[in-house]
Amino acid sequence: MPNDLTIPTACRLLPSDEQAIDRAAQLLAAGELVAFPTETVYGLGADAASPTAVAKIFAAKGRPADHPLIVHVAFPDEIDRWGRAIPPAAWDLAAAFWPGPLTLIVRRRSDVNSTVAGGLDTIAVRCPSHPIAHELLRRFGGGVAAPSANKFGKVSPTTASHVVAEFGDALPLVLDGGTCEVGLESTIVDLTGEKPAILRPGAITVMDLEAALGFTLAGSETSSTPCSGRLASHYAPLCRVQMVTLEGLRDELTSGVRQLGRTGYLVTQQYPDLDPAAVICLTSDASLYARGLYAALREADQRQFERLLVVDPPTGHPLSAAILDRLQKAAGPRNSD
Ligand code: TXA
Ligand code: MG
Repeated sequence: MPNDLTIPTACRLLPSDEQAIDRAAQLLAAGELVAFPTETVYGLGADAASPTAVAKIFAAKGRPADHPLIVHVAFPDEIDRWGRAIPPAAWDLAAAFWPGPLTLIVRRRSDVNSTVAGGLDTIAVRCPSHPIAHELLRRFGGGVAAPSANKFGKVSPTTASHVVAEFGDALPLVLDGGTCEVGLESTIVDLTGEKPAILRPGAITVMDLEAALGFTLAGSETSSTPCSGRLASHYAPLCRVQMVTLEGLRDELTSGVRQLGRTGYLVTQQYPDLDPAAVICLTSDASLYARGLYAALREADQRQFERLLVVDPPTGHPLSAAILDRLQKAAGPRNSD
């Protein structure tokens, strides 16, 4: 047995965490909701095997019942408690990236309730690496259905206080694991077609997946699988988000259009003509940008900006595809449009 000194600090649980995790596992067993940290974003969890517990997630989030949830498991081999006819590629990806920020979509077992899958005959499974998530799943002993712990269509929470701000006292327990390391939701890979296809980009990139598989993925447009992360608008704050080039920013600043509303600027450096009071600054390091992005979108709402111009997100980095995907969703046409 390794002694305590061999366990990395990030994996060590404080005694207070231990008690809170036990309490959380009891609440899940009693059919209640629990919010918990993962390495990607905070999840709003319920016993995946209980249709009534799962229904509470849909009610709390205001999420349409046909939008399927991800089942979180403590150990990779639990995938076949939820899925059937698991293809070799799924096992290969699980071996390479679990526990970690990857969700696999496989065919649903007929004895798994369809509520959790939004009525689909497929099921999404993920084995998270966050030590609190892992301990919670291990102690609970079953699958935990968990969407991001935000209201439907809104920005995912990356701190416990984001979850509390969103749900107030409506949740019996929010486990606090600090700021999520990745900050963007997991990569989703659909394994139910002829070739695996990415439905949602994340920290596990196309290159990572193809290296592990030894062959290329299908283009995501070839998958007919529905996914709310693929709606034109999602992950959106209240303010209007717009992506602008540096040229567009210059035009905006010289045209005086900004006088029309309270405009904020999400930048990775100071630009001489920008009012510092209107600036939200993230570092240009792609990992840190991803980690801070959702908090920045929330800050834009807190500062009551009506518009948020996103100027210079990091490009050319493996995480850029996921960052740009979320920015485009945040900037997409609203359902009310
Ligand atoms: O990082 C994450 O994946 C986080 C943390 C909490 O694990 N969870 C998360 O869940 O982002 P949610 O519900 O916010 O997003 C799950 C996405 C949705 O876009 C949903 O449509 C898709 O997964 N999904 C789930 N089951 C599916 C299925 N059977 N077929 C296609 N898409 C599915
Ligand atoms: Mg979500």
